[in-house]
Amino acid sequence: MSLNPKITDWRGKRVWLVGASTGIGRATAELLHTKGAKVIVSARSQAALTELAQKHAGLEVLALDATDEAAVKVAARQLLAASPLDMVMYCAGMYQPMRAQEMQSAAMVQHMQVNYHGAVFVTQAVLPSMLAAKRGHLSYVSSVAGFRGLPKSLAYGPTKAALINMAEALYIDLHDEGLGVSLINPGFVDTPLTSQNTFHMPALITPAQAAQEIVSGWEKGKFEMHFPKRFTAWLKLMRSAPDALYFKMTRRFTGL
Ligand SMILES: NC(=O)c1ccc[n+]([C@@H]2O[C@H](COP(=O)([O-])OP(=O)(O)OC[C@H]3O[C@@H](n4cnc5c(N)ncnc54)[C@H](OP(=O)(O)O)[C@@H]3O)[C@@H](O)[C@H]2O)c1
Repeated sequence: MSLNPKITDWRGKRVWLVGASTGIGRATAELLHTKGAKVIVSARSQAALTELAQKHAGLEVLALDATDEAAVKVAARQLLAASPLDMVMYCAGMYQPMRAQEMQSAAMVQHMQVNYHGAVFVTQAVLPSMLAAKRGHLSYVSSVAGFRGLPKSLAYGPTKAALINMAEALYIDLHDEGLGVSLINPGFVDTPLTSQNTFHMPALITPAQAAQEIVSGWEKGKFEMHFPKRFTAWLKLMRSAPDALYFKMTRRFTGL
């Protein structure tokens, strides 16, 4: 059963990707551009976005800091004044490994601002216009780290759990309004965000593979895209495991 309106033809679709200067967002921008979408890319780094746009004629650049609500509002107003948006994906994110013994509240709050509040600001900035037009799709890049608590994920995990919950709540309210809402829960993807990991990342995939999974999920009208399944299917199963089993298995697999 398809949970969202399927997007089968990307030609002429206007897509705003926030967090698209590198990694998963950038690869998704490139894939959608090749499929004929009118792609707008945002992130803080103007230089990286401009370099991306130079490779792909027609790609539009709109540099912003997603944690600055006023800047997000101005950007959205500018985009919506031109024409409606068919897809908005929030993939801005940061990750700093943290365990309880080195807890830093300031860094935890910063993760919340980038990974969650930015998504709230972007949603608020585009939702009224999507509701009025009864057209559009909101998509959020969360993580399997949002399913349950994980070691080193003290700052990152809670932000991703919040994003998962928000996407589900939005789906419930917006589906009958004719809007799409989707949730993306990747496993490990080889990007600047994970390059700091010193441990072996199981089932690591490339950003281009992640982009294929995401776009194919939108085309099929899925609500959740989690990938690669050989890794994420286990984590989904562990989501409903009894606490004692979950803690034991997590310890065994991570060695932490
Ligand atoms: N890589 C993985 O294994 C993995 C797994 C699960 C989920 N994810 C999630 O996937 C998303 C993309 O991550 P990635 O792996 O592709 O990492 P990445 O290459 O580091 O991309 C993060 C993007 O977010 C942008 N960004 C960061 N802070 C921002 C801010 N305040 N305002 C606007 N843009 C901001 C970055 O650009 P600027 O620095 O130029 O602003 C960059 O474009 C993140 O939400 C991440 O949590 C990644």
